[in-house]
Amino acid sequence: MLGCLLRGGCGPLVCLWTLLLPLVSLQHLNQHWHRGHSERDRSKLLLVSFDGFRWDYIHRVPMPNFKSIMNEGVMVEQVEDVYITKTFPNHYSLVTGLYAETHGIVANEMYDPALNLSFSMETDSIYDSRWWEAAVPLWVTIQKAGGRCGAAMWPGSDVKIHGMLPTQYLPYNASVSFETRVERIIEWFSAPKEEAVDFGILYWEEPDESGHILGPESSLMDAVIVDIDEKLGFLINELKKAGLYEKVNLIVTSDHGMTQLFSDKIIELDEYVSRDLYTWVDKSPVVGILPKEGKLEEVYGKLMDANPNMVVYKKEEIPEHFHYRKNIRIMPIIIEAKEGWTIMQNRTGDFMLGNHGYNNTLQSMRPIFMAHGPAFRQNYVKTSMHSVDLYPLMCHILAVRPLPNNGSLSNVKDLLSSEPTPSTPSIAPRVKEYSYAPVVGSFLGVVMVMGFLVIYIRQVTLKQLPSLKHRSREMSQPLLQEDLHL
Ligand SMILES: *[C@@H]1O[C@H](CO)[C@@H](O)[C@H](O)[C@H]1NC(C)=O
Ligand SMILES: *[C@@H]1O[C@H](CO)[C@@H](O)[C@H](O)[C@H]1NC(C)=O
Ligand SMILES: *[C@@H]1O[C@H](CO)[C@@H](O)[C@H](O)[C@H]1NC(C)=O
Ligand SMILES: *[C@@H]1O[C@H](CO)[C@@H](O)[C@H](O)[C@H]1NC(C)=O
Ligand SMILES: *[C@@H]1O[C@H](CO)[C@@H](O)[C@H](O)[C@H]1NC(C)=O
Ligand SMILES: [Zn+2]
Repeated sequence: MLGCLLRGGCGPLVCLWTLLLPLVSLQHLNQHWHRGHSERDRSKLLLVSFDGFRWDYIHRVPMPNFKSIMNEGVMVEQVEDVYITKTFPNHYSLVTGLYAETHGIVANEMYDPALNLSFSMETDSIYDSRWWEAAVPLWVTIQKAGGRCGAAMWPGSDVKIHGMLPTQYLPYNASVSFETRVERIIEWFSAPKEEAVDFGILYWEEPDESGHILGPESSLMDAVIVDIDEKLGFLINELKKAGLYEKVNLIVTSDHGMTQLFSDKIIELDEYVSRDLYTWVDKSPVVGILPKEGKLEEVYGKLMDANPNMVVYKKEEIPEHFHYRKNIRIMPIIIEAKEGWTIMQNRTGDFMLGNHGYNNTLQSMRPIFMAHGPAFRQNYVKTSMHSVDLYPLMCHILAVRPLPNNGSLSNVKDLLSSEPTPSTPSIAPRVKEYSYAPVVGSFLGVVMVMGFLVIYIRQVTLKQLPSLKHRSREMSQPLLQEDLHL
């Protein structure tokens, strides 16, 4: 084609086509890579959450199964979960990489003034998709990219979100045993190739339930924690029996920790402000207060300095580091109890010996994190991470493009057995390839235009000076090579 230019026998249309060629071929290349990725065997991943498993439970009784994952895989000592440190907000953060203010599940019990609707873990209100659709959970993203997912009781996984349910899922039923949940997960992973899931999520209600009832410091908790280790042992064994243990990447984590409460550390709001002035939203230790019309200042004034064991924030004063402000479902006033304290209206409500929800910088609120499998290093301990970093890590392992999120792969890539480099077929370079394609294409277009002009001018000159023809061809070589390199 350069010859065509040099010979001067080139019509304007052909020349234009020549200039556009670099753009066209770049586009082809991208499509080819994209296909290449979806066709190759994806890495498999199973994400397991033991609700309320505090990071240090592992050190208090012998835990042979947890220890074996740690020794053969990775573990992170201190994971900072998201505020508020409750079950629904944190489980949604794990699968979206977003803070609660962005994904919209800001508490276990919520009120949305725009929808005039209430959300409660204890009712079917959670099945209204509108609560969930500010974010796109990982299973929806994977399925839209052609993958398959299986969910066993993960909070929100039996709700239709953006028109989709997981490819395989169990409707929430707390009575279904851990063993049954595991058996279903194993079935989904071991199905024939075209039906097998790429990503599984498994949820178990303990040790949260017992932690609330007994209090985490109770010696009776030891048996509960030993039981979780046995449950993990059952999962590992089933994975091994199905030939999956060395193939499927396994992440074991939790949503939050648990702290001990005391029956003499109760704050009774009725002592400070009349119930007629506000609506109570969500439960201790972070209570949302919706003042009645025009009563904001009065309610705030009455609560502000009422009790040294609670902190009262107007919404706009909530500390920046909580990332808990920019959502209509966060109430105009929130009250946070200090660690160990319980907020009630009066003492007749249910009192629990353990709770979570407090400041996410407290050690007691931290969950556990460990992982095992081909994607992970062996016998590696990392000091700290943020739970929102899990989402980009999972996207990397599964080779799906992460949606905008609050985590960062670079914070956790040292957990991986092979750190990503631009030459490995991983997701990060591919995203770059896509976003830079127009820039690179335009640049090459400009280079071609300039090259064309140079050649054209030379060619005009050549017609007059035939002896320079050979040199001019040599000069066109670098351009030609660049074209082939594409
Ligand atoms: C909100 O819904 C309730 C019924 O659940 C209704 O009584 C109330 O009037 C509604 N409020 C507004 C502002 O629409
Ligand atoms: C929940 O699971 C239990 C145990 O498998 C079963 O007996 C019960 O019928 C299930 N409940 C619903 C509503 O499906
Ligand atoms: C405490 O609150 C309950 C409702 O939560 C109410 O029925 C009861 O009368 C209250 N007790 C006192 C002493 O005010
Ligand atoms: C949260 O806890 C940390 C200590 O872990 C403390 O420094 C910080 O002031 C607390 N923040 C709030 C807003 O309670
Ligand atoms: C979290 O990520 C979302 C999506 O990119 C973004 O809109 C939001 O501003 C981020 N939040 C913070 C605190 O950076
Ligand atoms: Zn929980």
